[in-house]
Amino acid sequence: MTDPTLETARPYMAALADELTKAGMIRSPGWAEAFATVPRHVFVPEWYEQETNDKGITVWRRRKADTTDDDLAAVYRNTTLVTALDPDTAKQLDESAWTGVPTSSSTLPSLMAGMLEELSVQDGHRVLEVGTGTGYNTALLSARLGDRAVHSVDIDPDLVHTAERRLSKIGYTPQLATGDGQNGHPDGGPFDRIIATCSVTAIPQGWIEQTKPGAILHTDIALGIDGGLVRLTTDEEHRARGRFTRTTGRFMAARTDARAYPRPNNAPAAPEAGRRPTPVTATDIRTHYPFRLLLAFHLPQAKLVYHRDDVGALSLQLQQRDGSWARAPLTGEGAGIVTYGGALDLWQQVEAAWTWWNNADRPTQDHFEYVREPDGRASVCHTTDGRRWDLAPTS
Ligand SMILES: C[S@@+](CC[C@H](N)C(=O)[O-])C[C@H]1O[C@@H](n2cnc3c(N)ncnc32)[C@H](O)[C@@H]1O
Repeated sequence: MTDPTLETARPYMAALADELTKAGMIRSPGWAEAFATVPRHVFVPEWYEQETNDKGITVWRRRKADTTDDDLAAVYRNTTLVTALDPDTAKQLDESAWTGVPTSSSTLPSLMAGMLEELSVQDGHRVLEVGTGTGYNTALLSARLGDRAVHSVDIDPDLVHTAERRLSKIGYTPQLATGDGQNGHPDGGPFDRIIATCSVTAIPQGWIEQTKPGAILHTDIALGIDGGLVRLTTDEEHRARGRFTRTTGRFMAARTDARAYPRPNNAPAAPEAGRRPTPVTATDIRTHYPFRLLLAFHLPQAKLVYHRDDVGALSLQLQQRDGSWARAPLTGEGAGIVTYGGALDLWQQVEAAWTWWNNADRPTQDHFEYVREPDGRASVCHTTDGRRWDLAPTS
């Protein structure tokens, strides 16, 4: 069936490809052509726009990609478009607005382009995508490599069926499967490339077993405080190693159940033990992504959350499962003061990491190499001075 909107959309598709090329995110003709020929509106016929209501609450307002120029322009923006909300937390507020936690989205096109370029695909490569979502990225891969080379898996059967229908509407029939992509796609390997658009806390064994030596794995590694995109190459011994990439971006966490969404698991906080001056402010942590990543190496069991006190002042709070915490204010009085509780002075680690990072000339994330050993142990190494951090599994 011909989509009457397709011709109207073509200039928007070409403009998006052009914008991503000018921004340096598309760097090869193959991907420029894929972005210029795959219609995003077919995969994202409706989405949720983020608003803040008069009570300061995040509201998701549904929007449809009708045939008007305004609607098409909205779909072909370089923006993440949220396409699904967790049914357990989503509450309908009016005819077209909900609150709730997003569970699927069409990824930011510039991030997608950056990741696809990092994948360094060649004609004839077989690729596994983990996190089919809308199917838009599956379609881009199919346009670049041919749909027979593309396998894609999503935990949510409804998303897989919808993506399958939309892909076939534009003539693609890649191998789609429902399941936990952390197991890879056992029936589909061996693959030359794996790209994941949901985050994992460690590189799954299945991905190693289902790829050829020399394969590239590109995924978001979630490390508690923060995480980042890694581009790893596998070797004959089943080791995978490679750097965090210059392209930055974070993805929603891989879940193991299609209908259960991760909930924050905050330990009861220990009583306040003290407060003291500190050279590291919450703004330092919030501003410098590579420093947050470094903190995640230092404190693999810690999480970073926002904390609002009784009078509304906002702080950044580090916390661990044992109830230890340390927080520094982002607003209000007290910048340069840390308050803490529990058995550990977590902030000492923050200060040690800050000193190391500044002495090392503030390395960006691509100066750190992630290594996954054949037995599953993982570590990170600073490529300049060789300092290493063992990454205990996150909880
Ligand atoms: C950011 S979206 C993917 C975007 C997608 N690549 C696109 O272009 O629309 C993340 C997806 O990961 C899926 N997901 C979450 N956990 C998963 C798992 N364990 N295995 C496979 N997919 C998973 C979610 O259902 C969601 O559709």
